[in-house]
Amino acid sequence: AEIIIVPSEEAAGALVADEIVRLIRARPDVVLGLATGSTPVPVYEALRPRLEGVDVSRVRGFALDEYVGIDPAHPESYRSVIAREVVEPLGLTPGLVHTPNGSMDGIEHAGEDYEAAIEEAGGIDLQILGIGTSGHIGFNEPGSSFASLTRVKTLLEQTREDNARFFDSIDDVPVHCITQGLGTILRARHLVLLAFGEGKADAVAGAVEGPVTSSLPGSAIQLHPHATVVVDEAAASRLE
Ligand code: F6R
Repeated sequence: AEIIIVPSEEAAGALVADEIVRLIRARPDVVLGLATGSTPVPVYEALRPRLEGVDVSRVRGFALDEYVGIDPAHPESYRSVIAREVVEPLGLTPGLVHTPNGSMDGIEHAGEDYEAAIEEAGGIDLQILGIGTSGHIGFNEPGSSFASLTRVKTLLEQTREDNARFFDSIDDVPVHCITQGLGTILRARHLVLLAFGEGKADAVAGAVEGPVTSSLPGSAIQLHPHATVVVDEAAASRLE
């Protein structure tokens, strides 16, 4: 992977946003892979001023993952997060931006449906990724197959603790999720993994320099011909 160390989250956001704007100008119906959580926020914030006057009405998007069993209207469902942080502020067309269907009704074919929708869109052009302290990308926790496609998974306790900050208590964090698989992620044409802060340093070092192993799902990016890793000094601190 190409590693870019930036001085701040804002600098990372600007760098990645510039690349996304370039893509949209080149191909107005570009397909973006969207992460949620804290990490991509600077990218979405940097996109806002940059997209003023750019036609984004045909931009398509696919979220990485969703909680299972959460009310889609819950403010922390990833469908709500993507609407609030991406679709609304950037003026994207809501019907063109998808999240996996985490409702219990139809969950048995939700993964297959999502894969079919991505395929029908012609695949993801640029996939934004964060990385969990467990080394997960998407919600592919350690042990996930590199060939995996969108499917239901169980969140690690560590991940539920990490995400408890978005909920009233850890008991409110869903136990299951539906996530693009590592195989799905590896099919995107360009991977951009971002990480900020000391807490991500071990996961970043493992993903970028460690052995390629399903014990550290982020290491799957080493198998991708076009992966860019954008990190601040703290997240880069355990790199050789
Ligand atoms: C989010 C996702 C996760 C997060 C990861 C880091 O859609 O798939 O892999 O990117 O858990 O979360 P933050 O950015 O909140 O530290």
